[in-house]
Amino acid sequence: MKSEDILNIATKRGFFFPSGEIYGAKAGFWTYGHLGTIMKHKLENLWRDYFLKLDDNYFEIEGSNILSEEVFKNSGHLKHFNDPLEDEKGNIRQFNMMFRLKAGVTGDEIMYLSPETAQNSYISFKREFMALREKLPMGLAIIGRAFRNEINPRQGFFRLREFTQAELQIFFKEDEFKVNFDEVKDYKLKIMNKDIKCSDIKVPRFYIYHLAKIQQFYLDTLKIPKDKFRFRELDQKERAFYNKIHYDIELKIDSLGGFKEVGGLHLRQDYDTKNHNVSVSYNGKKIYPHVLEISIGVDRNIWALMDIFYKKDKDRELFLFNRNITPIEVAVFPLVNKDKIPEKAEEIYELIKDDFNCFYDSKGSIGKRYARSDEIGINFCITIDHDSLKKGDVTIRDRSSMNQIRVKVKDLKETLNKFLDGVELNNLGKLIN
Ligand code: GAP
Repeated sequence: MKSEDILNIATKRGFFFPSGEIYGAKAGFWTYGHLGTIMKHKLENLWRDYFLKLDDNYFEIEGSNILSEEVFKNSGHLKHFNDPLEDEKGNIRQFNMMFRLKAGVTGDEIMYLSPETAQNSYISFKREFMALREKLPMGLAIIGRAFRNEINPRQGFFRLREFTQAELQIFFKEDEFKVNFDEVKDYKLKIMNKDIKCSDIKVPRFYIYHLAKIQQFYLDTLKIPKDKFRFRELDQKERAFYNKIHYDIELKIDSLGGFKEVGGLHLRQDYDTKNHNVSVSYNGKKIYPHVLEISIGVDRNIWALMDIFYKKDKDRELFLFNRNITPIEVAVFPLVNKDKIPEKAEEIYELIKDDFNCFYDSKGSIGKRYARSDEIGINFCITIDHDSLKKGDVTIRDRSSMNQIRVKVKDLKETLNKFLDGVELNNLGKLIN
């Protein structure tokens, strides 16, 4: 079973594991280990670099996870953020999924753990709008925690009770959201199993433009194969209570049985600005800005990446992560632990460790070290042997093909960079196996 294989490596090697295991873990809470944390930060930074650059007036903020009852009364979550729950007698009642807290000494100040990062952007909107010189569109992004008391937090790492969202709220004046549609008009969006040209889609242009940008992020930045990506439009019954147009971003996650939601593009209109009463004066008129929201679940995307880039054949298990997402790029191994080879290997490790995400390992046979490094997706291994001492060169082994070349130490950094940027190993030197 693929999900068990991935989970096995994830928990054993330090990607993620259930929180509080030593006390009997509670479902829906997970800890990122040393590898998972690097990978999560890399994904978050790719998201940041990409979506914040869509406009000069998009910025990141960081809010509180605990917010007052008034916020969620006005956001609609107290009333609507429910899941149906069946009790033992067969009665169905509505169960509110927010975690309720009692703040203060007397404990009678009721607060909630925020179930989406978005609310912090709405309640900060007015202040940021003033600070940012009253321009629209204006984007406020948050990468932060969200908390939901999911009734059924199974599916391992996918339905969590505490998780990370990366969300960008774009505030704009209704009918005044200009985008460079020409840039995407011939671009084809994958909607369910069809490729549809942007100019043939019947939703507002600014909405289509952002669908295209999201698809490009997945295909071009995260390098998700096209057959594993799609949008799915949600109808009125399926949409969240605040959305006018809603397309989910879905990735084909075989370990979970097929296409699953990892994010969405939501046209929330003025639902939130009206409910929080955050009108502003814009070009001399009082307006309630509309909101377009790009939202992804970071953890779900991490699982999807692990699923999509996992490979198992008869000899080995490995992750074929790209450089921009892999937790470790380079492993440095002394072939044996004698004859001044470890000293030379450490010297080489010191030489490159500031330029690459590196890992030094001298324990166990070289075969086992290769297997372990493949298993965690290290792009390649450098091995230092007796010849290295004489000739000043090392072996580079490619994780994916297992091909090897010899490279002079003086050319090492340049070769590593070229290889990590996608140049095939056989174009960088003569294959030696
Ligand atoms: N602000 C909009 C919003 O929260 P959502 O569809 O409820 O919309 C957005 O959540 C994303 O957050 C989802 O697409 C999913 O990736 C992630 N997400 C939601 N609930 C989750 C859960 N229980 N565990 C992990 N991720 C979750």
